[in-house]
Amino acid sequence: MIQIEQLTKRYGAFTAVDEITFTARPGRVTGFLGPNGAGKSTAMRMMVGLTTPTSGTATVLGRPYRALPTPSRHVGVMLDATAQHAGRTGRETLLLAAIMAGMSRGQVDHALERVGLTAREADRRVGNYSLGMRQRLGLAGALIGNPQVLVLDEPANGLDPAGIRWMRGLLRDFAADGGTVLLSSHLLHEVEQIAQDLVMIGRGRIVAHGTKEELLSGTGTVVDSPDRGRLGTLLDAAGWKPQARPEGGFVAEASAEDIARQALSEQLLITELRTAGGGGLEEMFLQLTADDAREGVTGHERSAA
Ligand SMILES: Nc1ncnc2c1ncn2[C@@H]1O[C@H](COP(=O)(O)OP(=O)(O)OP(=O)(O)O)[C@@H](O)[C@H]1O
Ligand SMILES: [Mg+2]
Repeated sequence: MIQIEQLTKRYGAFTAVDEITFTARPGRVTGFLGPNGAGKSTAMRMMVGLTTPTSGTATVLGRPYRALPTPSRHVGVMLDATAQHAGRTGRETLLLAAIMAGMSRGQVDHALERVGLTAREADRRVGNYSLGMRQRLGLAGALIGNPQVLVLDEPANGLDPAGIRWMRGLLRDFAADGGTVLLSSHLLHEVEQIAQDLVMIGRGRIVAHGTKEELLSGTGTVVDSPDRGRLGTLLDAAGWKPQARPEGGFVAEASAEDIARQALSEQLLITELRTAGGGGLEEMFLQLTADDAREGVTGHERSAA
């Protein structure tokens, strides 16, 4: 269990993480989703005691990370797989991690096997590893203390499709055995495939969170017509609160059948009609990304002026 309450990090006047509150529960994989620069890594660093919060709290298994005895026996952490010591071999890296966790040497082979690194690969220097191999090694290091909680920052980054499928299985099994997994990603579809719960963050703030089903099963219906003006009036008159979509048409709060019947009775041609489904979440995410991109451009112009 990871409990985050009102967690905030400011760097001078800039707020990187803004009063976020959520819980990652045991037995579930929680996806921490947000565009680049949203504050995911900063929040995760605060969870594992590497960055001091400006305010708010983060506890793992009921205690602040720093108060856990032998933390790696409770929480497996992988924040930046590229930051591993380049001169050591994979095996040496894991051996050190095992010693620090107070685990036996035998755990090293077990961990290597669990992440699919061969003995030959384990004896190569980490500096010569591909990004995917580093991710596997990082995951092995996180698992070595046999923890109940995993905190993983962009673990799928650099993995090929087979690697992503493998990792999904590993994390699902870990959660199915009662473990808590929190993983970040800037890719909605990647998180959708792995996580059961989602927390979406944009510019330091949580913009949506809940189970994947709750978030993806948007209640609205997408509808479009060549005569958008009449369609909007019809939906509005029926009290279905039409929202114009950037790509055209509307999302309305009514079933597809109710909308179809109303349009038929008013002889209005409908060219698109479907349940909004996951579109709501995807659109929210794209909107976040677009807003941030625009803001980046403005900031650039300002500093150049
Ligand atoms: N030490 C720091 N000093 C100043 N600003 C920082 C510092 N660390 C992070 N930031 C800023 O905080 C914001 C959030 O950064 P963070 O790395 O947490 O984002 P992220 O969601 O992990 O992004 P990405 O998907 O690119 O990894 C960014 O604007 C970043 O520049
Ligand atoms: Mg990050």
